[in-house]
Amino acid sequence: MSFLAIESLYKSYGTVPILRDINIEIEEGGFLVLVGPSGCGKSTLLNCIAGLEPITSGEIRINGKSVAGLHPSQRDIAMVFQSYALYPNMTVAGNIGFGMEIRGVPKAEREKAIKAVAETLQIDHLLNRKPSQLSGGQRQRVAMGRALVRNPQVFLFDEPLSNLDAKLRVDMRTEIKRLHHRLKTTIVYVTHDQIEAMTLATKIAVLKDGVLQQFGTPAEIYNSPANMFVADFMGSPAMNLLTARIADGPSGLSVLLDRPDGEPLALPFNGASSKLAAYKGREVIFGIRPEALTDPDGADRKAHSSAEGECLIEVVEPAGSDTFAITNLGGKEVVARLRADANIAVGQKAKLAFNLDKAVFFDPESQSRIG
Ligand SMILES: Nc1ncnc2c1ncn2[C@@H]1O[C@H](COP(=O)(O)OP(=O)(O)OP(=O)(O)O)[C@@H](O)[C@H]1O
Ligand SMILES: [Mg+2]
Repeated sequence: MSFLAIESLYKSYGTVPILRDINIEIEEGGFLVLVGPSGCGKSTLLNCIAGLEPITSGEIRINGKSVAGLHPSQRDIAMVFQSYALYPNMTVAGNIGFGMEIRGVPKAEREKAIKAVAETLQIDHLLNRKPSQLSGGQRQRVAMGRALVRNPQVFLFDEPLSNLDAKLRVDMRTEIKRLHHRLKTTIVYVTHDQIEAMTLATKIAVLKDGVLQQFGTPAEIYNSPANMFVADFMGSPAMNLLTARIADGPSGLSVLLDRPDGEPLALPFNGASSKLAAYKGREVIFGIRPEALTDPDGADRKAHSSAEGECLIEVVEPAGSDTFAITNLGGKEVVARLRADANIAVGQKAKLAFNLDKAVFFDPESQSRIG
């Protein structure tokens, strides 16, 4: 049974619809990440779950019970906000224990809980400091400590790492993952960082303009994006999305891609879906991630369907562990991810290997995935 279920949820501010027909469910101990561009409604959805915003229609259930009409304090939820306003005049211990103090938890019990949480978050040596004496990452831990100490049914995190610098973000991401592994509490986590989404989530919900674009595991979202928006949003560098034509030949279907000079590149396709066959002679959007487009020596030998083609290399960008090469296909810049030591130079025509097992196709009109 799902632990947190959001059913046909609509939310408007006044007459402006913000969230439209959201359906999501997550099992107990799951880590749901809500991801999408700024303004798509992520915080609004989180606030609806927390009870900080009333919903317009639909249902939210936690552990089978509707939370309709329940005050935030009755929902057994703890939330960590992006701006984790700590009480500046209180110590770290005071900040973590404040909620318990308000609820009249006895001092000894409070101190025990604060100590346990501080140890978990590795801030036990900071308990007597004031927030102004802490680094950004340490403050963020205190904010998390305030939530953890309540031992709730569900944690809600709204972009908790967005105020931290890049290095610290990555460290805290690992910490949060470790924490979740240990506590096994159900988490709903908002971010617009797609790498954070991929690394933390057991399930990802991709939102755009208040509409759920796709809900699935990180692998489903990455490998089988429901539409071009999801394909483009998830993954860095982004998936190449190119206009192509589907041609029929003696040995089956092939994908034709325009090259700036000369003949189009034809990629014979082994085992295309029957749905793709319906696009014979028509345009499609061909999606291929940079890592599925590589130098032939670095190509995946296990690929069932792969093809090679000559491409003019326009830019070469060494990136340490890999080298990115940019070519032009279908009238667009295409990024290929090559081995670091790939022998490639600007202005050269180089053979690139396309792993077509990893290719996805989209209908140019509906922008939905074909097959
Ligand atoms: N209290 C409010 N009254 C009216 N409109 C609001 C209110 N709060 C948010 N909105 C609008 O609802 C939409 C969704 O906002 P929301 O804060 O949920 O976006 P978000 O996905 O969290 O964005 P970000 O990534 O920038 O935090 C936005 O268009 C915003 O302007
Ligand atoms: Mg937000």
